[in-house]
Parts: sequence; structure tokens; C-alpha cells
Amino acid sequence: MSTTTLLKSLENLAEMGYVGEPVSQLEHGLQAAGLAIKAGAGEQMVLAALLHDVGHWCNPKALQMEGLGAREHDRLGAEYLVSIGLLPEIAALVGAHVDAKRYLAVTTAGYMTRLSVASRKTLEYQGGPMSDREVSGFKASPVFRDALRLRAWDEAAKEQKADRPNLEFYRAMLTRHCREPVSDAQLDHWDRFGWLRIKSWYSEGEMVSITSATDDLQARPEVPGKWMKYFEGASGQPRTLCRIENFLQYEPVYAELLQGNANLNLLSLLLKERAVLFKEKVNFKLPRGQGFSAHQDAPAFTTFGQRFHVTMMLSIDHGTTDNGCLEIAKTSRLNESLEMNEDLTLSDSAVAGFQWEPIETAPGDLVLFDSYVPHRSAPNLSDVSRRALYATYNRASEGDFRQRYFAKKRRAFPPDVEREDGVAYDAGVFNVGNPVSL
Ligand SMILES: [Fe+2]
Ligand SMILES: [Fe+2]
Repeated sequence: MSTTTLLKSLENLAEMGYVGEPVSQLEHGLQAAGLAIKAGAGEQMVLAALLHDVGHWCNPKALQMEGLGAREHDRLGAEYLVSIGLLPEIAALVGAHVDAKRYLAVTTAGYMTRLSVASRKTLEYQGGPMSDREVSGFKASPVFRDALRLRAWDEAAKEQKADRPNLEFYRAMLTRHCREPVSDAQLDHWDRFGWLRIKSWYSEGEMVSITSATDDLQARPEVPGKWMKYFEGASGQPRTLCRIENFLQYEPVYAELLQGNANLNLLSLLLKERAVLFKEKVNFKLPRGQGFSAHQDAPAFTTFGQRFHVTMMLSIDHGTTDNGCLEIAKTSRLNESLEMNEDLTLSDSAVAGFQWEPIETAPGDLVLFDSYVPHRSAPNLSDVSRRALYATYNRASEGDFRQRYFAKKRRAFPPDVEREDGVAYDAGVFNVGNPVSL
């Protein structure tokens, strides 16, 4: 679906009054979404807040409530959002926002008197307060809690002036939350080559919080048993931060990024089956940081018997030929391992057999590649960092191994702070082609 069309329709609502309240329809949605962001809600909730009242305008034939909007605007809105291709979880929340009001009307003392005049009037059209039976049905619904949160933002989103992001802020987020967030041409490229670049998957505005979470991660001290910090540099030389792994549980921004519905949906489209996160890392490649030797991931990712992975690279900084951006072998999709050295990097003749294409990226761009795509990168010869987040997924049917993976890696190839003197670690598959010092 075209999110541009949806955004255009929403833009036109700047002139449309919000059913008996002192703000426009557009302003009401923007305020509700802004409140959701302030409350730290996930993207699905934010979009549901933005779009919760589309039912008032999406169907010109809808029966009206005496100038107070469309009847059954909750259901109409949910159906419309599904019809234009948004993920159904958002539609389900939109479809429950009137139920939340009918629920609160009967379970919360004084709620009715706090409602605006217009909202009290529409409650009559909406079936009035819930019956006991409806209350227990609603409480058992999977969207119960989120629908109540959404309702609170809905009711507070009627200020004449409020500080909130504008509509443009949601453009990339809306695209991400479509059932088909990439074009047929992009899917075709994926099928033919096993990799895909998506520009501006995250907007500049969104990259502000992702970048600051990355700064925060980078500044974290080395703590045994937690996030895993790895360094490069020969022994005796100053250490340079090279990589941090196993951090999803410490930064909520990454939880949404790595396991939110939008990215899981994208990865599932590419894996052609439900995806599950296998592991996550940020490669820092600070100025003068080393490159990665050419390799395929497949031979290194076999620890738990999975056969196939897809890795999502999110560019945090610009990735350029000067600072050692990702390079991919020019070849049609491969399905097997190529000739390798003992350390599982590609043999010289395998490397020489390809032309290598530098994949330059801007902050917010994604590059996705499957586990047979030969890739490498050069050292960072510039004076700016080239940070990139790499998240690897496998098919859910092959199992969920993330915790076991990090536990196993921690034992075989611990971060510096957990290494014991005099122990010779055999990093094996945990250190293929990369510059982390042993
Ligand atoms: Fe509504
Ligand atoms: Fe509303």
C-alpha cells in the first residue's frame, strides 16, 4: 500500500474539526501519538494512537452521529487500516479504543462525568457502558491493557497547543508497519542476489534516539556477565573498542529495533517463515579500526544446527569506502559454502574470483544479506567512526538459540573483562574474519 496516500489523507484532516472538540482531526491524532512516544510506548501503539480515529473519515458513506463523527468508527477504522495493508496488530488496537471507553464508563467511578460533552453524547451511540458480560470478554482480550493506555492518550489529546512531532516524523514508521514493506522489485533483487539495501528504513528523526542509545552503549563500562565488549589491538598496544554484543535487554530502543513486529515482519518475509532473533552486535570500527576478511556467515553459524540465517545491518553512521563500509561479492545467489581457509575465511582464490561491490549507506539505511553472501570490509582510514548494528535471525522452526548462543560464546570467547590470565581461548567459529584480539 502507499503510505504516501495515507499521509496525504491525514494531512487533509488539518482542516477537519475533531467531532465537537477544540482541535482538528489531524492535531488530535498527532497529540495522541506524541503522548504515546512520551510514555515510551512501542511503535505499534504509537501508530495506533496516530490513526485511532481514521474511522471518522475513511468511509464517506458511513452513518453519522449528529455531527459527532461516524458511527462504529472503531470498526470502520480497523477495517480500513487492514485494507490499506497495515499490520493487523495496529488495526486491532484501533478497533478496541471505543470498547476501552465503554469499559471505563462502568468500571471507573466518576469517569462519565470527566468525559467531554461530545464524548458523553457519542457513548450513547456506541452502546453505552459495557454489560458485565462485555466487561469480562474485554478483560480477556489480548489488547485489553494496550487499549486502555491508548484511550488515556486519546482523551488527553485535545489541547489547543501541544508540543508533538509532526506528521512527517511517522512516514518511515508507517512504511515499516505495512504487511509488505518492500516493493516487488526489491523482493526480486533479494531472490536473485541474496541481499537487499533499503534506504531510510529509519528516518533522521528516529535515528536521533537510536544513535544516542548507541552512544550510551559505547560508553558503558565493562561489566562481567552483562553486555559483551570486545577490543582490537595487539597485546601491549592500546585497546580500541571493536564490538559490543548481547545488549538487547539493556536498551529499550534496541528491543523495539531487534524484536519489534515491524522488523520481525520484514525478516520473516525474507526468510519466508517466521523469524526469530539469533544474535545482535554493534561493530564500532572507530578511526583506524581494522576491516573484516572475506567470509560467508553460514560456516560460522552452525553451532545449533540451523541451516540458514539472514542478517540485518543498520547503518548508525555513514558507511563509505573511506571508512570501511560493507562490501559484497558480485554474484547471483549462492546456496553453498565456498573454498575456505582453516579459519573459515574465504581462500585467496575464492576472493579473487569475485568483483567486490562497496555498499555505501547513510544512517537509517538497512542492508540485509543471507548467510551465503560473501562479504568483507576494509579498515577505517578516515577520522570518523563507522558504527553499524548487525542483527542475525533464523527461522523460528529451527529454534530459538539467542540465550544459548551468548552463553556458549561467553565461555569459548569471553569479553576482555571476563578473561582469565594464562587461559588460551579457542574462539573457533566465534571469531571468523574479524579483528577482535584473542
Ligand atoms: Fe475515537
Ligand atoms: Fe479520539
